[in-house]
Amino acid sequence: MTVVGPFGLSVRDQALEAEVHNGLSAVETGLVEATKSDVPFITEAAQHLVRAGGKRFRPLLVLLAAQFGDAHAPGVVPSAVVVELTHLATLYHDDVMDEADVRRGVPSANANWDNSVAVLTGDFLFARASHVLADLGPEAVRIQAEAFERLVTGQILETAGPREGQDPIDHYRDVIAGKTGSLIAVAGRFGALMSGADERAVSVLTQYGERIGTAFQLADDVLDVASDSHESGKTPGTDLREGIPTLPVLHLRSMASRGGSAADLALCGLLDGDLTDDARLADALAGLRAHPALELARRDTVQCAEQAREILTPLPPGPAKDALSALCDAVVHRAG
Ligand code: IPE
Ligand code: IPE
Ligand code: MG
Ligand code: MG
Repeated sequence: MTVVGPFGLSVRDQALEAEVHNGLSAVETGLVEATKSDVPFITEAAQHLVRAGGKRFRPLLVLLAAQFGDAHAPGVVPSAVVVELTHLATLYHDDVMDEADVRRGVPSANANWDNSVAVLTGDFLFARASHVLADLGPEAVRIQAEAFERLVTGQILETAGPREGQDPIDHYRDVIAGKTGSLIAVAGRFGALMSGADERAVSVLTQYGERIGTAFQLADDVLDVASDSHESGKTPGTDLREGIPTLPVLHLRSMASRGGSAADLALCGLLDGDLTDDARLADALAGLRAHPALELARRDTVQCAEQAREILTPLPPGPAKDALSALCDAVVHRAG
């Protein structure tokens, strides 16, 4: 059993481990290449988060999905670069929206420079992603465009909140499928498509990406409450402070509204109040960490990862399928 890549996936098969290792190295080279500009400041701002690391979860999924066809086909690594660059661009923008100061263990671009630099660097990264994507053909461009539309729609719906009369948990599920599931589905789909895998594998890996992507975001939202910044490379409680309702909070609110205790109602009151105050935020985090709502959200995360695993059933058995199955456990148990 060897751990491969910064995500720390355990892979049993040595040949697969070597392939994924080499693929991820090629992706790194591609990312550095694609983020160079003639203007030194743009290179610095664009490579700020590239060099800070990150789990490279999406490229890993592209490479594993490509195992169901010719993993060395020429489009595989560039498509992984496209997905990671797109993801990276959304992080620059997301940290502006969420007023986040820390990302990948370093100051976010908006904290290091300012919002304008962060927004424009995100746009630069989208431009570069499009440039690499253009060589992958019109179908790939269309797939990416549709996913990007869903991603942005998810981010906007998160900001807009539930429609009149809509269940907040249904709204939340729409948001996370859009903002996170969509691009991770592209990772599975591109890996399969670019490697020339058969239609059934393309379909399975797309659906798997969407589901594991949703589990990935559920885990992220649990970690916003449960992790410390050392593990996550982000500031815990960022979602809470911004008033972004994530599943632990939504479960708490739902429990409180259905005959919750006085302590539940008090915790809801704290969460509804001003959490820019560090002491109040720390109290809210402590309250949520000790509340059964967090455990409920954890259970939903596990259930979603199990659904992702079930989707893999039609794929031929082998090391790549085993690795995708192991990814379902890794997503749930990750610390950062
Ligand atoms: C963070 O993504 C944003 C989410 C969609 C949860 P990652 O957790 O993949 O961030 P990096 O790439 O490892 O920094
Ligand atoms: C990130 O969502 C989703 C996208 C970047 C599209 P979050 O705001 O929940 O992610 P983190 O916690 O900042 O990484
Ligand atoms: Mg954020
Ligand atoms: Mg956000």
